[in-house]
Amino acid sequence: MAQQLLKGKRGIIFGALDESSIAWKVAEKCFEQGATFTLTNAPIAMRMGAINQLAEKCNAEIIPADATSIEDLEKLISRSVEVLGGKIDFILHSIGMSPNVRKNRAYTDLSYEFLMKTLDVSAVSFHKVLQTAYKQDAISEWGSVLGLTYIAAQRTFPSYSDMAEAKATLESIGRSFGYHYGKHRKVRVNTISQSPTWTTAGSGVKGFDAFFNYADKLSPLGNASADACADYCVFMFSDLSRMITMQNLYHDGGFSSVGVSQEIMDMLMGDSEA
Ligand SMILES: NC(=O)c1ccc[n+]([C@@H]2O[C@H](COP(=O)([O-])OP(=O)(O)OC[C@H]3O[C@@H](n4cnc5c(N)ncnc54)[C@H](O)[C@@H]3O)[C@@H](O)[C@H]2O)c1
Repeated sequence: MAQQLLKGKRGIIFGALDESSIAWKVAEKCFEQGATFTLTNAPIAMRMGAINQLAEKCNAEIIPADATSIEDLEKLISRSVEVLGGKIDFILHSIGMSPNVRKNRAYTDLSYEFLMKTLDVSAVSFHKVLQTAYKQDAISEWGSVLGLTYIAAQRTFPSYSDMAEAKATLESIGRSFGYHYGKHRKVRVNTISQSPTWTTAGSGVKGFDAFFNYADKLSPLGNASADACADYCVFMFSDLSRMITMQNLYHDGGFSSVGVSQEIMDMLMGDSEA
């Protein structure tokens, strides 16, 4: 793409684990659009090493940080401002993990210790990133911060388990911090509610292929891909979206507005006729 929508903008991108990660695609597109940024992930995720290829491709420094650790976040944000040569214009929070889902605990038999971890990693970390940046006054005016979420925050999807609570909290933090940061420095905070996407986190949900196919058949445009999500993130980081803040933005091919689609009706009628 020839445009340079993010020319001169500096960012921090959390959550690129491997090539399928949504954050990976966002980093590639931000680079194409002229941004400079640092890449970060939990120290444990670095061991897989894939992030090095992305860093090389995007000419980005990698700064490990556990997004639940204030100390790590303080270092990450101050180091990013230093290496990028000024305040940050955009941040992508692309982080999710539930030990209850990972260990197949039923929703009616949650470990509360795990639940706390789910909430801390997948939701409270968004507040921690924002609060750390706020205290360091590290984000430029009209800067844009995004979190990634899923419609299980509004509607029940049984196998999504306690991640639904995490996403509802994440979206609420986006609205609340969006108010305070908007007033304080005109910084924008939004969440993007993305279609099911084949990634490490996504496919960890039980029955993910059925989940994916159902959403694809319900959405008039089909599921939104990670690539399309990355395009939307670029737009949200650019000046073209400067008056959008405190929103939960559906990026789902229309899924959130559909009751039932003809494809699903045909499938069910086929079943009942058989
Ligand atoms: N894949 C989907 O179907 C889908 C749909 C809607 C929203 N999302 C959201 O998109 C975001 C990105 O997920 P993805 O699907 O690209 O999967 P992914 O597994 O590639 O990314 C999740 C990332 O979270 C990171 N992470 C976990 N614990 C961390 C910690 N303590 N500190 C820092 N980073 C940590 C992982 O290392 C990984 O890079 C998540 O918020 C996810 O819930 C995904």
